[in-house]
Amino acid sequence: MCGIVGYIGKKTNIQKVLIESLKKLEYRGYDSAGIAYVNNNKINIIKEKGKIEKLEKKIDCGVMGKIGIAHTRWATHGKANENNAHPHRTGMVTIVHNGIIENYLEIKRYLEKKGYHFKTETDSEIACALLDYIKATTKMSNLEVIKEFTNNVTGSYALGIIFDDDLDTLYATRKDSPLLIGYSENVKMIVSDVSALNSGIKNYYLLENGDIVKLTEKRVSIYDNDLHPVSRKKLNVKVDGNEVDKNGFEHFMLKEIHEESVVLESLLRKYFSNSKTFLKKMPKLSKYSRIHIVGCGSAMHAGLVGKHLFEEYANVETDVEVASEYRYKKVFYDAKTLVILVSQSGETADTIACLRKAKEDGIDTLVIVNVPTSTMAREADFVLNIEAGTEVAVATTKAYLLQVAMLILINLKMMVEREMISIDELDKYLQLFGEVPKKISEVIDLDKEYFEIAKNIYHEDNIFYIGRGIDYAISMEGSLKLKEISYIHSESYKGGELKHGTISLIEKNTKVIVVMTDCDLKSKTISNIKEIKARGADIILITTKQLDDDYDFVSKKIVLPKTNSLFTPILSIVPLQLIAYYVAKLCGCDIDKPRNLAKSVTVE
Ligand code: M6R
Repeated sequence: MCGIVGYIGKKTNIQKVLIESLKKLEYRGYDSAGIAYVNNNKINIIKEKGKIEKLEKKIDCGVMGKIGIAHTRWATHGKANENNAHPHRTGMVTIVHNGIIENYLEIKRYLEKKGYHFKTETDSEIACALLDYIKATTKMSNLEVIKEFTNNVTGSYALGIIFDDDLDTLYATRKDSPLLIGYSENVKMIVSDVSALNSGIKNYYLLENGDIVKLTEKRVSIYDNDLHPVSRKKLNVKVDGNEVDKNGFEHFMLKEIHEESVVLESLLRKYFSNSKTFLKKMPKLSKYSRIHIVGCGSAMHAGLVGKHLFEEYANVETDVEVASEYRYKKVFYDAKTLVILVSQSGETADTIACLRKAKEDGIDTLVIVNVPTSTMAREADFVLNIEAGTEVAVATTKAYLLQVAMLILINLKMMVEREMISIDELDKYLQLFGEVPKKISEVIDLDKEYFEIAKNIYHEDNIFYIGRGIDYAISMEGSLKLKEISYIHSESYKGGELKHGTISLIEKNTKVIVVMTDCDLKSKTISNIKEIKARGADIILITTKQLDDDYDFVSKKIVLPKTNSLFTPILSIVPLQLIAYYVAKLCGCDIDKPRNLAKSVTVE
């Protein structure tokens, strides 16, 4: 999604500095980019549609400067083109903006009556003009102008601002859109993601909602929305060079799949290797008789796995809902309900809204998150960090896998609290879980087989996934993985539901990937396979060693190593991730940055 960079500091090759930081935000997804910087006391703006390399070709990279702002835009209001790209400039004000100004039309009409004309289709240009209007019509200081602006807009924003009458100062503010301030002795930066900071910056402040910031080369001044000076917690930048490097892999996605066994192993070893550390790390859950799991995309799919486990094993009624629905619907919960928010980034706007809704209603919240400094991690009552490390590929793999792992651990905690298993049995489960990372590596080692499957399906227009029970939850995620990176249409269905309509789409050679790991549902799934086989479907089966047999009706079969059924979803997703990867590769897609998608969806 959109990314913000701002720099103020000692004189430097300003264009290069801005572009380098923008490149670090590329993985978040964008469709145009631009920079603005001060040279000879004048603001210069350069923008381009498409990749940052195209923008780079437009600049000479020889300009020295002390201050600049830059942006990667993921189009919301108005097409992805150079005109709509940021930075925007009106009168005395130049800005970059993340978020959505919800009352922009109302403001636009007002400003048009005051003589403003607009060149773009964006809400951001309106924000820029409003700042200029307040500045031009009042005697307010620049900080007061920003405060007044925040009092008049609704929606979400992170803003980097340069005022023409103060070209040695960078201003910023945020509400419901992430922004942080990096600082070293002679350089200060604003960025929407810590990864975009210059390598020389080792410390940063996370801004709170409503903060207004004034940055000079030497000084960081942070104010609350009443313009009272405030101090914010200092944090250290912890970006492992290894994480932002492909380490010899062709794509980040492939590298991140290959990291799955390592990150799971490290999470289990650190906190969950025995009942003592496990019980210390896990929150007390005994008071909850009902759980709501909320997330978007893959995070919601992880929630579907959680629902299955919580209900089947721990006997706890669980509902799962996509955050964009949950936030607006009538929700039935009470003091005995726990709302679990699942999110890799911890910044997904819809999921944050659900977290706040639950909190406002006095309901306890727990987040399963990968970014410990994220908004969700800061606001929830309980936080479980999955510690997957930076995930660069837009399609989530290792973070999804660890979200599922965390839900399995929560399930074990509830089973202990409900006295469904003893501490000794818990230790046994944890020991078995400790063997899973090695099994993930075994599944990844079947690489050639995934490539063969991919070769057989990459030219298709439609691919179906089916499964029952927990296997349906996994096949939902497999289908999403495939469509988001290969652009091949795919759907996932509950095996028993096919004959109520969808089976009409099955014809000779229709590719169907079947996930079958649930012993109790084996015969039912086989009946579903037979039904579609009879209509000509070409079956690819993902199953386990326990369920394997001489299935002559499948054209290709992947057999997962033996494990306790509680841990099977951790293994069964891996082949689906790798099949999607190889299909996308054969299709020649931009695997790590699929079209139209953003890593972190920070707008509604
Ligand atoms: O950062 P989050 O986990 O909250 O993101 C949720 C979804 O946007 C994300 O899982 C999305 O579906 C991925 N592109 C899937 O690969």
